[in-house]
Amino acid sequence: MLNKKVHKLLNQQINKEFYSAYLYLDFSNYFKAKGLDGFANWYMIQAQEERDHAMLFYTYLQNENMPVELDAIAKPDKVFHSHMDVLQAGLEHEMYVTSLINDIYGAAYDVRDFRTMQFLDWFVKEQGEEETNANDMISKMELFGSDPKSLYMLNQELAGRIYTAPSLVL
Ligand code: FEO
Repeated sequence: MLNKKVHKLLNQQINKEFYSAYLYLDFSNYFKAKGLDGFANWYMIQAQEERDHAMLFYTYLQNENMPVELDAIAKPDKVFHSHMDVLQAGLEHEMYVTSLINDIYGAAYDVRDFRTMQFLDWFVKEQGEEETNANDMISKMELFGSDPKSLYMLNQELAGRIYTAPSLVL
């Protein structure tokens, strides 16, 4: 039996992760429309990873015999004026998700819910990686984005990203 607050936050996180998937699909759609298929591929895979994250929270609650309530997924409503705007929005979003994971961790810590803390450990590490990836994308765009040939090469590099299932299995 999970603590009420911990349960509520874990359940909300299912929605937040599905929203993240939706947001990254929107990013992918932006780049596809600009003819940058490599960037579109990178964010499509990011969307798949976010869906995996949502399913991990979903499965964790089910394994704990706790109810799952699915909520409406918000519309991604960010407006982009440049490629960099998209990348910046990605970093901002990941920093927000890190704060959400930390909030759940804090709530679990307060009630000595060690199982939930152990489950969340994977997400704490994952968020570190996601922020690093988002920062790397910004650095690369700063370095190469203004030169068409370099942008083409960067797009080729991002086309090589392939999906791998999460290392956490429940
Ligand atoms: Fe599920 Fe990008 O954090």
